[in-house]
Amino acid sequence: MMSHTSPDLMTVLGDLSAKVDARLNQLLPPTTNAPAELHEAMRYSALAPGKRLRPALVLLASQAVQGNEQAALDAGCALEMIHAFSLIHDDLPALDNDDLRRGVPTCHIKFGEAVALLAGDALFALAFEVLAELPLPAAQVVEILKVTAKCVGSQGLVGGETIDILSEGKPVSKETLDQIHIRKTAALIAAACEIGALTTTPPDGGVGERQRTGGAVVISDQPNSSRATLRTYGESIGLAFQIADDVLNETATAEQLGKAVGSDRERGKATYPALYGLEESKAKALELAAQAAELVQTFPNAETLQAVAQYSVLRLN
Ligand code: IPE
Ligand code: IPE
Ligand code: MG
Ligand code: MG
Repeated sequence: MMSHTSPDLMTVLGDLSAKVDARLNQLLPPTTNAPAELHEAMRYSALAPGKRLRPALVLLASQAVQGNEQAALDAGCALEMIHAFSLIHDDLPALDNDDLRRGVPTCHIKFGEAVALLAGDALFALAFEVLAELPLPAAQVVEILKVTAKCVGSQGLVGGETIDILSEGKPVSKETLDQIHIRKTAALIAAACEIGALTTTPPDGGVGERQRTGGAVVISDQPNSSRATLRTYGESIGLAFQIADDVLNETATAEQLGKAVGSDRERGKATYPALYGLEESKAKALELAAQAAELVQTFPNAETLQAVAQYSVLRLN
């Protein structure tokens, strides 16, 4: 892995992340509201220092189609809540049993298993409440709700986590490995990009066309629409991102990552390095990032989107 990414991109991501944190702080329930311990746990995990990649992608995909920034910010915060929920549950003793996340004790170490489980549940529910209130036409809000529900459910993140856990210590095929990575990680990242594209009001020749079918307005996804392109971009960087995560678990330090290292190997996880070796894994991640970068050439913020694709692979944490 290369040891640097564009300093400009780090400034862009830093600015987006500051906006996201300020909005998340407003959207998360205050600890003065009961049940205080639940709200503390939600805020502890969601506001802990993460990369905020998913909200950044919603905002950048929205910029690519000149979308509504406020809607993109709130949708990004909702996806970050879902991400935080997934991390809390992923770290539980029943799943990966990890003690460290984002450089601090995991939610269940700090608040106990019961509160951690429930804080994850509440973050998941709050995400949908925030999405339901997005300042967009109702048909688009419904579409965003559908994309989100689908990316988290049994065909998405939760399904991927299930295959991941059930495959521990067993030999898995390359096809199964891809199914794990695409579902547990790429699904949410792809949804972030697709949702960003849905923050513009159709028809704009990009997001998909509004069609009237028996009076109801539906939004269809055209094969060459910005929505489809940004989704495919997200699928590629999502898989690349998880391959890089597997590589970092082998090559980085816990201090650098803010979470355990070497743990995939200890638990017999299905990972790219386990099936392909480190060098081929890095090469595959780079190839996916290059494919993603090629897709977004025509967008006004192409350079930033391309830099994010590189960053998803060359990041150091
Ligand atoms: C960690 O995601 C879990 C994976 C999908 C690999 P991130 O690496 O985006 O974690 P944070 O948000 O920066 O903590
Ligand atoms: C990543 O899981 C995906 C989700 C948390 C849904 P991992 O178990 O591979 O990620 P880390 O290494 O704990 O962040
Ligand atoms: Mg896991
Ligand atoms: Mg884990």
